Amino acid sequence: MTNLNTPALRSQRLNQSTHAPHERLDRAVKAHDPFASREHFTPFVVAQYLFQSELQALYQDAELAAIFPDLAERCRARQALADLADLGAPVPAPVPGAVQQPSLGEALGWLFVSEGSKLGAAFLIKRVAVLGLSESFGARHLGEPAGGRAEGWKHFTRTLDTLSLSAEEEAAAEAGALAAFERFATLLQHSYAIAARA
Ligand code: HEM
Repeated sequence: MTNLNTPALRSQRLNQSTHAPHERLDRAVKAHDPFASREHFTPFVVAQYLFQSELQALYQDAELAAIFPDLAERCRARQALADLADLGAPVPAPVPGAVQQPSLGEALGWLFVSEGSKLGAAFLIKRVAVLGLSESFGARHLGEPAGGRAEGWKHFTRTLDTLSLSAEEEAAAEAGALAAFERFATLLQHSYAIAARA
């Protein structure tokens, strides 16, 4: 029997199953008061850089690029790196525990979270102006993607939603999305802890 509470589209199911971790992460980001000063904002950028740089191999993966032709351009590691330079912050050392060779299903879940985070970025970019930052200085990784934010997300989810996956791959996508939220939370905590010690 069809469960009426289960959305038909994969992207909506992933949205639903990551609702609670997204709420927790949203609260964790805000608890660090990232818009209070550049010093408060910088560890957030460090976390974004670490997350994006850990996903670089996925964004460059040939099998995934065959599914999402514009995948390589979607990665924001380069922008986050430039943001760190703008903010005068050193390039952080890698943090053990990065995702390693995920299965196709898991990779889709990780990419869903990384791409979805560009939606929240629309709200965050509006608040960086008080810090003298913008999508061309210090907050490049939150900037509007070429072709538009909503359009980019629509293209990504349309492709994601039309892939035919086995039940096992489907479950792996959900596990990958949950792992991605957990990883970002870890990197956020790590980045602010390092900054507090400095
Ligand atoms: C690393 C992953 C993510 C991080 C760090 C993140 C962070 C945030 C933060 C801090 C906000 C609050 C912005 C504000 O109120 O000023 C937000 C809002 C939002 N995020 Fe995320 N997000 C992530 C992933 C996602 C994903 C996967 C999706 C969608 C599939 C998403 C969709 C949204 C949307 C639509 C908003 C706007 C308001 C709302 O509905 O809560 N985010 N995000």
